[in-house]
Formats: sequence, C-alpha cells, structure tokens
Amino acid sequence: MAVMERSGGNYILSSGPDGHERLRLLCTLHDPFSRTLLLDAGLCPGKTLVEFGCGLGCIARWAATRGARTTGVDLSHDHVAEASRLACDADIENVEFRQGSIYDSDLPEGAFDFAYCRFLLSHLSEPVAAMRTMAACLKPGGILVCEEPDLKTIYSEPPSPAYAEGVKRILRLADSLALDFRFGAKLALSALSIGLEVHRADAYQRHFLGGKEKGYWTWSFAEAKPSLLSICSSPAELDQCLSDMRKVDRDPRVIVGHARMHQVVARKPS
Ligand SMILES: C[S@@+](CC[C@H](N)C(=O)[O-])C[C@H]1O[C@@H](n2cnc3c(N)ncnc32)[C@H](O)[C@@H]1O
Repeated sequence: MAVMERSGGNYILSSGPDGHERLRLLCTLHDPFSRTLLLDAGLCPGKTLVEFGCGLGCIARWAATRGARTTGVDLSHDHVAEASRLACDADIENVEFRQGSIYDSDLPEGAFDFAYCRFLLSHLSEPVAAMRTMAACLKPGGILVCEEPDLKTIYSEPPSPAYAEGVKRILRLADSLALDFRFGAKLALSALSIGLEVHRADAYQRHFLGGKEKGYWTWSFAEAKPSLLSICSSPAELDQCLSDMRKVDRDPRVIVGHARMHQVVARKPS
C-alpha cells in the first residue's frame, strides 16, 4: 500500500480552512455525548489523554479544561494550527497539538491514561492497525475510547430517494478507496481482537426535523464531491442528488436520522 494512502491520502473531506465550519458543527452535534462518555470512562484531573485525528481539537481542549494533560494529533497542518490558536485564545495551557499521522506519530509508548478518537478510524484504510497504535500509547490499565459512525444508517422518514441514493454513493466511494464507512459497527469486536477488555459498547443516533444540524450529512457529502465525482458516471446526476438532499433538509415534514454513532470503552490489560 502506498505510504500516502496509509498515512491519510484517502481522506475525502477538506483538510483546510473551508472544512472548519463543518467541523465546528460536528463538535456541536457530538461533543456532549463524547464528554459524557469520557467522564463515565474515568477521565478526571491529573490524567493524561491523547486524541488522534483531533480536527479543531474541541475534545482535547475540553479535556484540558477538566484538568487532564492533553495531546492532540492530526494529519492536517491547518487543523493543528487552528486547534492551537483556539487553545491559545482560551488560555488553555495543559494541551498541545502536533501534526502527524496516527500510524507514525512518534508519541512515546505506554505513556497515556487515555487514548481517544472520533470520526477517524472510518477514514483510515487500516483502522484496526490504528487502534493498535492507540493501544500502544496507553499505560497498562489505560483506557481506549473510540467513537465512529456507521454511514449505512443515515436515512429520512418518510424515506426519500435522494437520501437513499446519497448513502449508496458514499458507501460505493468507500469501497473504491478500501475504506470502511461502516466501521463503527465493528468497533467493539475490533477492540477485543487486539487484546483489550471491552467495558462498554454502545451507540446513539441523532435525528432532526429542522435547523442547520439536519443538513450535516448533505454538507459532508457535498464536501466529498471531488472524490464522489471519481466514481460518478454523470456529474449532473450527483448534483441532482445533492440538490434533492438539500430539499429534504429544508422540508419540516421529513425527519433525518444521522449516522448511528458507535462508542467503545476498552481497557489495556495491566
Ligand atoms: C472527520 S474529522 C474529525 C475531527 C474530530 N475528531 C472531530 O470529531 O471533531 C477527521 C480528522 O482526522 C484527520 N485525519 C485523517 N487521517 C488521519 C491520520 N492518518 N492520522 C491522523 N489524523 C488523520 C483529519 O485531518 C481530520 O481532522
């Protein structure tokens, strides 16, 4: 496998400033769930936490404000710069951000109490190898916390051909890139397969009738348009599909179910 592919060359979303606004919405949608999960998993002052694929660093910064010493790692120079700027503006000192791939981040092994990621493994061609890297960063008895979606579960009610078509296209794109956009459903078994003790395997799914949040997945699919075009026989059909998804998002009589988010909390044996 080419080095770029392994280290993140298959990433289909924006890794520049134009992706920041969507990432901010992602944090609004999921941070409350992630915070509760991490607190329930035992995150407390004095612990050390590394977050891989941290994006704008919302969770890393929050963990630091709860008294954890936190490191955020992301492949995108741009996201790392923005995460550092936000930490600096908020005067948060016990957090650092570094650019790097989860596969070769040069972090010390056995150093952290918690290793965390969200919306990362499903973008990687070797998600289980990436979980192994996360586990290697943990101290014996340390806790791995991962949250990943299953994109097949995105739907509208009443069912709309546009949403069904959008999901079909994005899953086909994942196949063509050897990515698993359904990896969330495999999180817990993957943790077991690398020798961790699974303490919690759970899932939640957000639903919206209106608001900006409702269109989050349409926005994401539109951001992936350059990649989607590579598997598309007709660019006009893709545009039509995105436009029809937007119509659904504006229709207050249709509910949209976002991708089910799977969560795992697993312990590295002592
Ligand atoms: C969908 S975003 C999620 C960001 C953040 N975890 C969140 O939930 O708000 C995925 C992030 O993973 C990063 N990423 C992609 N491939 C990576 C890799 N191989 N190593 C580290 N980060 C990677 C991207 O740059 C992006 O910031």
